[in-house]
Amino acid sequence: MEKNESIFGRRTFIDYIIGFVVSAWAFLTAYVTLAYLWPSKKSIGAGGKSVTIPLSDVPEGKARKIRYEGKPAIIIRTSEGVFALSAVCTHLGCLVNWHEGDQLIECPCHAAKFDIRGNVIGGPAPKPLQSYRAEIKGDIIKIG
Ligand code: FES
Repeated sequence: MEKNESIFGRRTFIDYIIGFVVSAWAFLTAYVTLAYLWPSKKSIGAGGKSVTIPLSDVPEGKARKIRYEGKPAIIIRTSEGVFALSAVCTHLGCLVNWHEGDQLIECPCHAAKFDIRGNVIGGPAPKPLQSYRAEIKGDIIKIG
């Protein structure tokens, strides 16, 4: 009788440990996914009506997410110049990413695709990404 209680106690303990590990894994996975889809204000800045960033922060072919007028924006620099677009997908609001190899912007949620000017080129997005005025002035990029 005593032995059965001991085994039950051990099984219960192992069940709790497994439950804890599974819960921790699920929480961590959810946290990392949400941080990827919706970066924090801290990671992309506060933004304003006019934002300047060093040209060296966005090498040619690369992109950077910033906050412009309080909303996530993506700055992309190519051989054609610099482009500033809303980073909020027009489908359900996930944040889009630049794919240098394919030269397109893609939403990680449902695979909407946009060209460098924000026009929809595939997927479920109902309208283009909002674009903002962007220019290179010396060694800075000015948005707005
Ligand atoms: S939220 Fe971007 S494709 Fe659905």
